[in-house]
Amino acid sequence: MTIMNRIKGKTVLITGASSGIGEASARSFASYGANLILCARREERLVQMKEELETEHEISVRIRGLDVREREAVEAFARELVAEKTVPDVLVNNAGKALGLHLLHEGLVEDWEEMLDTNVKGLLYMTRSILPAMVERDSGHIVNIGSVAGHQVYQKGAVYNASKFAVKALNEGMALDLLGTGIRVTSIDPGLVETEFSKVRFHGDEERAETVYEGYTPLTGDDIADIITFVVNTPEHVNILDLIVLPTAQRSAHMVHKETS
Ligand SMILES: NC(=O)c1ccc[n+]([C@@H]2O[C@H](COP(=O)([O-])OP(=O)(O)OC[C@H]3O[C@@H](n4cnc5c(N)ncnc54)[C@H](OP(=O)(O)O)[C@@H]3O)[C@@H](O)[C@H]2O)c1
Repeated sequence: MTIMNRIKGKTVLITGASSGIGEASARSFASYGANLILCARREERLVQMKEELETEHEISVRIRGLDVREREAVEAFARELVAEKTVPDVLVNNAGKALGLHLLHEGLVEDWEEMLDTNVKGLLYMTRSILPAMVERDSGHIVNIGSVAGHQVYQKGAVYNASKFAVKALNEGMALDLLGTGIRVTSIDPGLVETEFSKVRFHGDEERAETVYEGYTPLTGDDIADIITFVVNTPEHVNILDLIVLPTAQRSAHMVHKETS
């Protein structure tokens, strides 16, 4: 059986495309023949990806060093795209992070602010900037990267949990507000994925980050990217609202079976 390619020629904007799930998604969409708009703060990584993906695939890749917390920069970029009639067919709101693992009364307020500003407000800025052009065209697909942490709370994760519960609410809210339009809305909610996520969470402590993925097989960025492209590749009348994806060894936000050696 051959799988129909409904992605080829579409324009896909991915935030947080410089590593992990975002980078893997860019590679997966490129393999389907989508044109890409890649954003992240580490622009040098995007420069490399552009070179590589444009050489390997017959696609165009546009890159932008962008911090999703900077509202004016996000709005200006969206205005630039719309003025050129480059309205993305797919927006993957992926940029996000956890910072710290602390009891609430010991948490760092700076970490909370960065998580909420990135995971919630950054997602809102990007969506608010791009969505009107999708609505005008009456087609498009918003893919929000939530988390199992947006369905179940775990100890020492309350603020990250709150940010991903917010993503769940925003995903459902967008879906409702877009009732009657041709725009699809999906949240992909992973469990443990081995990316730079834990290194970022533990402020660069790689040794501690590695322990998160020991004793079981975690998901990879490619696993999630395959699911994102699958969801986008479904026919226009199919809308997958929310998908929780866990490694087989994980059964809830806080229950992971680890083999001890
Ligand atoms: N890994 C997991 O276990 C897991 C599980 C559930 C959900 N998630 C979610 O998956 C998404 C991707 O995370 P990941 O696991 O792929 O982690 P990652 O490897 O650390 O990637 C995060 C991406 O977000 C970008 N980013 C961070 N802050 C940004 C900002 N202010 N503006 C623009 N881009 C920013 C980073 O790029 P720059 O640093 O270059 O800006 C990077 O490309 C996040 O929303 C995360 O919450 C991850």
